[in-house]
Parts: sequence; C-alpha cells; structure tokens
Amino acid sequence: MKASVTKGLGQGFVVEEVELADPIGHEVRVQVKASGLCHSDLSVATFIGGEFPVVLGHEVAGLVTGTGPEVTQVAVGDHVVGSLIQYCGACVNCLGGRTYICLRPESTLRTPGQAPRISWNGAPVAQGMGLGGFAQEALIHENQLAVVPDEMPWAPAALIGCGVLTGAGAVLRSADVRQGESVVVIGAGGVGMNAVSGARIAGAETIVVTDIEDGKLDRAKAFGATHVVNSRTTDPVEAVRAITGGGADHVFDFVGVRPVTAQGMRMLGKGGGLYLIGVGGNDAGVDVSAMAALSGSQKVQGVYMGSSNLKRDIPFYASMYLQGRMNLDALVSKEIALDGIDAGYDSLKDGTTARVVITDFS
Ligand SMILES: NC(=O)c1ccc[n+]([C@@H]2O[C@H](COP(=O)([O-])OP(=O)(O)OC[C@H]3O[C@@H](n4cnc5c(N)ncnc54)[C@H](O)[C@@H]3O)[C@@H](O)[C@H]2O)c1
Ligand SMILES: [Zn+2]
Ligand SMILES: [Zn+2]
Repeated sequence: MKASVTKGLGQGFVVEEVELADPIGHEVRVQVKASGLCHSDLSVATFIGGEFPVVLGHEVAGLVTGTGPEVTQVAVGDHVVGSLIQYCGACVNCLGGRTYICLRPESTLRTPGQAPRISWNGAPVAQGMGLGGFAQEALIHENQLAVVPDEMPWAPAALIGCGVLTGAGAVLRSADVRQGESVVVIGAGGVGMNAVSGARIAGAETIVVTDIEDGKLDRAKAFGATHVVNSRTTDPVEAVRAITGGGADHVFDFVGVRPVTAQGMRMLGKGGGLYLIGVGGNDAGVDVSAMAALSGSQKVQGVYMGSSNLKRDIPFYASMYLQGRMNLDALVSKEIALDGIDAGYDSLKDGTTARVVITDFS
C-alpha cells in the first residue's frame, strides 16, 4: 500500500510503497478515507523529531476492512474515527473514567519483540501516535477507534479525532461549562473554533473570542462568538472585564505564549478557571499570585485532549454535527491528495485556511 513517509527531520512527506502487517490481537485494519493535517505532525517532522522513518497523520477517519482475533468493539464495514488517546482500559485512571491520562498507553502498541505494523524495504517504519493516517491503510488498536454513523461525511469526521476532542472537550469536559456562564477563547484557530461550538452546546451566555487577525475574528462570529476582540488594537483584559462585568468564568488559552497566558489570568472573575491548551514555545506557562488566586478562588488547569473519553465523545460530536449543532464543514478549507502534504502544510500559513484534509488516496 502507499503511505507518505517522513524519513528524517525536515525531510518532508514522500509517498512510498510500504507493507502493512495483518491484524493481530486487538488490531483493526482501516482503509483510510480522510486524514487531517494537524500542526503537531508538522512539528514532529520539522523540529520535535522522534523515530524515523515514520508514517504520521493522527486525524483519521476510515472504513474497517479487517480485525484481529481479539477485537470486540468494531466490525468489518464500520465507519470509524481514530484518536491519539491511547489507553489500556485496566489501570486506575482508566477504571475511573479518565482514559486520557491512562498509565499504560503503550499497551495499545506492539512490543519491540513483535514484527512491526509497517515496514518499508524490509525495515521497520514507526507509526505516528499509534495511527499513521497519512496512508491508504492503517493498523490501529481498537481502543483508539470509535464508530460513527455511516451518514457522517469522511472529511469532517477526521477532524473530530484531534481538533474537536481538544477544543470542544476543553469546554464541555475539562471545564464543565454551565448554562449562563461566560467563556473566553484566546486564539481563533481551528481548535479554538471547536471551543466556541462547545460553548454554544453548553449554553454559555457570553462567548468572547480574542485573536490578532480580523479575518479569524470574523470567522469566530460565524461560529457563534457573542463578542470578538482584536488584541493588537484593543487591550483584551480590559475588554473582557467590561464585557463580562468584572471577569470571566472560564478562559481557554489556545495560544500558549507567556504574555498572552498572563492576560488570560487577569481576565478571570471570582471563582474563574484558566485552561492551558496551546503551547507556543518551550517556556510556555504562567505565574500565579497565591494571594490573588486564593482571594478570588481561582484555578489554573492544564488540558490534555479535552479530557475526552473517545468512545463516548467522538460519536457525540458526530451526532452534534449531523444535528446541525456543530460546524465542522467550515473548518475543512481544502481537500488534497496523499502526495500533496508538503504543499498542504504550506497553505496552512495563509490565515484563511483552517484545516486541510487528505481525501484522495489513489
Ligand atoms: N492540549 C492538547 O491536548 C492539544 C491538542 C491539540 C492541539 N493543541 C494546541 O492547541 C493550539 C491551537 O491549535 P490550532 O490548530 O487552533 O492553532 P492555530 O495556529 O490554527 O490557531 C492559533 C490562533 O492564535 C492566534 N494568535 C496568535 N497570537 C495571538 C495572540 N497574541 N493573541 C490572540 N491570538 C493569537 C492566531 O492568529 C491563530 O488564529 C496549538 O498550540 C496546538 O498545539 C493542544
Ligand atoms: Zn492534532
Ligand atoms: Zn489505562
């Protein structure tokens, strides 16, 4: 089968003929129908690094074409969406319902002694995040897959696995936003827009979005922001405190650079929470004044993958989309072929492009 292989740091994405093993144990063979280009795969390919060669791609939707002998949760013919959340289902965190912080995520992978899932010219190829969606087919542990209705279109389905779980999950699961509360979304990118959708589903009364580009803020309004603030031209802290009448209940930081996160802290009202999602550099973080935090009873929380339970939440977001309550179509800016990943990532630099999705695997 064809897969787009990243052979080393800065070496881009090159289509090669590779071998995919037959499914064993809990593995599922998926014919990939759509694969989203998330920034973090580009980061792995350009500066983070890891094992090479590797097949990246972690926003995957596809059709189940084969199952290992121990698979019980999906069947041939199912439409599935993958997630990078890897969980064992048996550790104390999994048993407590917090599969996103599983203590044994590696249990979803083959052991070093076993034959590799992917090989190229007889040598092993790493599989990005247990998914490897930049390929015609993928071999994925059943715990990383959720079944979605057949009528769910492939391209928006693929986005659910990362950007939607993260953005909407931060609001609905991590923060548990309630009706009538106020929400601030800092950073109107693809993930931030899903936070706006989540805030609408939660019944937030005030949804303020801040960004530094007017085009992004126009899009935020179309997604349901009640107020937008360009933080290049307006002090976002003053603006949020005025709009919310003293400070916000929930502030979600999708940017993650120190001055911006510090602004987020100062936007909080009494009892408010600041949620850290974006990481804009190695020194991302925030100073917390104990006196201000305790007198205002405020909290700061790091959020991994929107505190999502993928088996519950992926079908939930698909349902919200099919009911017209979650806008994913406007996030699919462009559909490309498997050999167009480098150009696809280049086009993300243009501010009007939200997400690029591979839908042609021929
Ligand atoms: N925590 C997690 O589990 C998790 C999962 C997925 C993604 N992420 C992270 O979420 C972040 C957002 O992802 P994305 O795909 O939406 O990125 P994106 O680049 O599309 O969006 C970021 C937005 O922030 C805006 N921005 C930049 N500087 C700003 C400033 N000073 N003030 C206000 N806005 C500013 C940009 O204009 C852009 O619209 C990334 O850092 C990504 O790595 C985290
Ligand atoms: Zn991602
Ligand atoms: Zn576990």
